[in-house]
Amino acid sequence: MTLLSIEIPTYNEAENLPVLVERIEKLGMDAEIVVVDDNSPDGTYRVAEELAARFGNIKVIRREGKMGITSAIREGMRSAGGEYIAVMDCDLQHPPEFLPVMLEEATRGADVVIASRYVQGGRSSFGAARKLVSRTATGISHLLLKQTRSIADPLSGFFIFRNGVIDPSCIRSNSYKVLLEMLVRGNVRKVSEIPYAFGTRLRGKSKLGIGEMIRYLRLVLQLSDYRALKFTLVGSAGVIVNEGLLFLLAPHTPLLAASAMAVEASIIANFIMNNFWTFRGRSGSGLFKRLAKYNTVTILGAATNIMVLAGLVFVHLEYLAANFVGIMLGFAANYAGSEGVVWT
Ligand code: GDD
Ligand code: MN
Repeated sequence: MTLLSIEIPTYNEAENLPVLVERIEKLGMDAEIVVVDDNSPDGTYRVAEELAARFGNIKVIRREGKMGITSAIREGMRSAGGEYIAVMDCDLQHPPEFLPVMLEEATRGADVVIASRYVQGGRSSFGAARKLVSRTATGISHLLLKQTRSIADPLSGFFIFRNGVIDPSCIRSNSYKVLLEMLVRGNVRKVSEIPYAFGTRLRGKSKLGIGEMIRYLRLVLQLSDYRALKFTLVGSAGVIVNEGLLFLLAPHTPLLAASAMAVEASIIANFIMNNFWTFRGRSGSGLFKRLAKYNTVTILGAATNIMVLAGLVFVHLEYLAANFVGIMLGFAANYAGSEGVVWT
């Protein structure tokens, strides 16, 4: 049995593939290379076949047309015979010389070894805009997907995993972020990250665009069981509870007292809905302690709302617009607190 299968999805990488393959071959590892090409117009497939004839350890899978990096990786996994599987880009942004280091770490017992841009010592050669996109995407993942919180770079495209810990069928989306799906849906226990420097593309251009970003957001929502949406719905239901109770109490209760009761009732109602629906199955502290925490989080959310409102009015923004921004940020604070503090 081969020790390592190196999976390389390719789309228009005719110029890069020979360089990458030669650098891998030079390492002299006990490895096979699985190229999964989507019938690239630039003839990557032919280049791959030539390389396969030259080196004995290359499998080439040619698919009918562009079906996406993720499904390419899934398909490659199915024909990978190695004890470990590595996934990497073809454009040399992922230095192949790093594979032996990652493999060694994997054989020491990790289920997944990630070449990480964001642990101490890691780097990426992104420009400011792409860096911001990448950091924001990582932040969204940490916020919404608990399984990724302890991982600095869950969006890395360069990683190794033990063949068998991840069932190919758990990769269902068509986003770029296959590792994320593996971490959330696979049977992964021990993850290890090693810092590396993410380089610049050798030739050709990246396929990341606005479409990929939308697909990413959809993926995270899906993987998070749509919690952010459920939380929003619950929040709207809370408005009805608050207004309804105020309507019932106001005629025979002082307004401020009526409002305080209505607000607290809506907080409790929201807590119950979030506890048994939005965050169903999530553990944490006991029910009453959780309620107390939720109350605190909501108060902080309200404080955020008010402070943002005051701040923006101070810089002369119209007060209703300022309040809207405040509501959004207050809501975000509530959600973050619920994810990270109340239902951990
Ligand atoms: N078979 C196939 N089909 N391969 C594809 C397709 C496709 O539809 N689209 C892209 N690829 C291949 C590319 O040829 C390349 O080898 C690899 O997938 C990554 O594509 P890039 O376009 O270079 O992606 P990137 O540099 O923007 O993003 C990469 O790095 C990120 C950060 O590590 C990817 O690896 C991301 O998954 C990763 O998050
Ligand atoms: Mn790339």
